[in-house]
Amino acid sequence: MNVCIVGTGYVGLVSAACFAEMGNDVVCVDVNPEIVETLRAGKVHIFEPGLEELVRRNVAEGRLSFTSSLAEGLKNALFAFITVGTPSRPDGSCDLCYVDAVASEIGQTMTSYKIVVDKSTVPVGTADRVRGIIQKELDARGDSLEFDVVSNPEFLKEGDAVTDFMKPDRVIVGTENVRTAELLRALYSPFARSREKLLVMKTRSAEMTKYAANCMLATKISFINEMAGICERVGADVGEVRLGIGSDHRIGYHFIYPGMGYGGSCFPKDVKALIDTARDNDFEPRLIAAVDEVNNRQKIVLADKIKDYFADQGGVAGKTLALWGIAFKANTDDIREAPALELIRVLTSEGMRVRAFDPVAGERARQALQDNELVELVEEQYETLTGASALAVVTDWNQFRNPDFERIRDALQAPLLFDGRNLYSPELMAQSGFAYFSIGRVSVT
Ligand code: NAD
Ligand code: UGA
Repeated sequence: MNVCIVGTGYVGLVSAACFAEMGNDVVCVDVNPEIVETLRAGKVHIFEPGLEELVRRNVAEGRLSFTSSLAEGLKNALFAFITVGTPSRPDGSCDLCYVDAVASEIGQTMTSYKIVVDKSTVPVGTADRVRGIIQKELDARGDSLEFDVVSNPEFLKEGDAVTDFMKPDRVIVGTENVRTAELLRALYSPFARSREKLLVMKTRSAEMTKYAANCMLATKISFINEMAGICERVGADVGEVRLGIGSDHRIGYHFIYPGMGYGGSCFPKDVKALIDTARDNDFEPRLIAAVDEVNNRQKIVLADKIKDYFADQGGVAGKTLALWGIAFKANTDDIREAPALELIRVLTSEGMRVRAFDPVAGERARQALQDNELVELVEEQYETLTGASALAVVTDWNQFRNPDFERIRDALQAPLLFDGRNLYSPELMAQSGFAYFSIGRVSVT
């Protein structure tokens, strides 16, 4: 089948490569000429395990190509996937400017029947909006071409994106049109082999499902982070509590790890966008508003611990913090809404210096933090320790899980470790002579 993917980021490029891998002809379109150039040169501009190999193979075999011309991308396509960003506006509502721009351009350039697929995460009602924009452009051209608009939200997570796309828990198709549903079923049949995995539903239910899923997952994280805050104060260990509650299969062990608060380009913006949708429809969403509030507090929990520790030593000003991990989670180079950035903002605003390292997000971090003179990005994890008063571990990269503690102790001015991901055992850290502070566990000094 012929597929055009508009927006070649984490979702667009992964979807394109996976569709091509199943034998489809896929053309990717992006407005950013640098991205198109990079991809044409056989390189991938984002870090995503397994993606580069998949892209290269499908380009070499002639099933995957890149262009900055939407007209060229649409020429032979039956499906036009919209996979552009949908960031937050300052008031928390979803900014649809990129989706609107693509819809207009589709209306201006399409020359045959298209199934336009909203894969970006968009507020309920956006399929109708996209339909209206395309129709307006066709009317302006005096053209009577036919098209359908379908909602097909994406559930992949960064770091596992290729595997998630290839083996999805479910594929959601929102459409009121039986023929369109069958065409999407055919496109997805190699991924959702059992019929039950592909759920066809009303367009608005599909749009809502995406927000409900992300808000549910965000709620689990804020819940366990709140439990962690209580655990610390009553002498309980949230790691033990997680195991204790997770053994009840109605609760489960997954996705309830306490930490630095959820970051990334999705949960923070999607929780805010659903709050906005609810309020726009005269409904006050108390639970997800609290989820957002708890997360904002959690993002500064580690900074508060560091400030508290140094409070009676003249504060953090002039001291140096070694920081491991900037990406919002392991296995990605994405630093959007990364808790590390919030930690850096809070501590440097009080005059602390930060020497930071990330295995793959270093270059993006360097660009994002270039105006902050108190931050230095270094190339190797142990190099951060030179002249530092403490080490803070912020991202759960595997290479931080079992470090050389002797080397850390010797390099730091004093053996002091703040762990935002509970990677180490408090008892072991005490035995190694560290003052150790983590999340939801009693501090061992
Ligand atoms: P991204 O920022 O990585 O990529 C978006 C791409 O769209 C960019 O390369 C940009 O240059 C391009 N673009 C913007 N306007 C364009 C236009 N008019 N024509 C062509 N290209 C254009 O975004 P992303 O992280 O892939 O997210 C895309 C959407 O998918 C968002 O709505 C997001 O919420 C949703 N989503 C993301 C993930 C994820 O893990 N990142 C997972 C599920 C859903
Ligand atoms: C998330 C969802 O998991 C995907 O299903 C969804 O498609 C995607 O958002 C989206 O809509 O864009 P992603 O943001 O890539 O994927 O990453 P997650 O693995 O969900 O992690 C999000 C944040 O929560 C990270 O900061 C992570 O460290 C944190 N987290 C996750 C915890 O603090 N505890 C956990 O137990 C799990």
